[in-house]
Amino acid sequence: MRIVLLGFGSVGQGIARAIHTKDLGITITGCADSRSGVVDDAGIDIGAALERKQKTGYCGDTRITPMDVVATAEYDVLVEVTPTNVTTGEPASSHIRTAIERGKHVVTSNKGPIALAYRDLQAAARRNGVCLKYEATVCGAIPLINAMQEGLAGNTVTRLLGVLNGTCNYILTRMSEEGLTYEQALMEARELGYAEADPTYDVKGIDAAIKLVILANTVLHLDKTLDDVETTGIDLLTPDALRLADEQDCTIRLIGEIVPGDGVLRVSPRIIPKTHPLVVEGTLNAVTVETDMAGEITFIGRGAGSTETASAVISDLLSIRDRYVQGS
Ligand code: HSE
Repeated sequence: MRIVLLGFGSVGQGIARAIHTKDLGITITGCADSRSGVVDDAGIDIGAALERKQKTGYCGDTRITPMDVVATAEYDVLVEVTPTNVTTGEPASSHIRTAIERGKHVVTSNKGPIALAYRDLQAAARRNGVCLKYEATVCGAIPLINAMQEGLAGNTVTRLLGVLNGTCNYILTRMSEEGLTYEQALMEARELGYAEADPTYDVKGIDAAIKLVILANTVLHLDKTLDDVETTGIDLLTPDALRLADEQDCTIRLIGEIVPGDGVLRVSPRIIPKTHPLVVEGTLNAVTVETDMAGEITFIGRGAGSTETASAVISDLLSIRDRYVQGS
């Protein structure tokens, strides 16, 4: 199976490394970062592209744009992992539409296009007979979308409650357990590749709110936008608030909640007992889904990180290969 990889930051490099080191039967025929690109229909040298990126900051030739790659390379699946833009969804939305119109399948970790235009993109994919998959947009390595769409098919979800942002969880854990300041903990999360390109998306609760919109629209059959989510972040939390919670054997976590029955979507820091199942450490995410038939199920796993997000992207790719791509 041949893929084009757009986005060569933390997530893109994680995918490239996984394809380079594991025998997955995947060839990368083009890749691009925001300032350069490379196309080779016989398969690019992934090791060389990774090394070039490390040394120069560019994965390819500065005369080749991401759109050149998506519009001209030979491939079966576009992997779109450029940074999220929640206002316009661009340039990812245009990359995705171009690939779909060329009859290519799409796998993305990019939350912007899925939160803003899921129905349009899915309709375009159906018209063109291709598949659009987006497991990596929510909760990193946890196969939550797949589990809810397939494993819990037929259930009615009465409530979803969870820790959906690894960066905030990492910051809160480091502040309460190691006594780091908010700024120190945020700097660490950025250095470790957990935070968004614009980390205000993380700390202001926007990233968690986007994930709720994606879950609402793609899994729970609601029709929500970011404006429908009541959102409060962790950026104004003081160390005193964490200390006070600690004195009561509680801690603070940024919690996202959907109650489908009354259409409520909200994200806010909440004080919860330390023994609560949603009190997870570091970049872990945890999501409890309440359903009519399966009862209550909690998913816990790594919600952010290069390899962890690559895990979700690769799983989407292999599922497309097994269902749609012949001869690979
Ligand atoms: N910045 C996001 C997080 C990455 O920290 O959860 C995964 O979506």
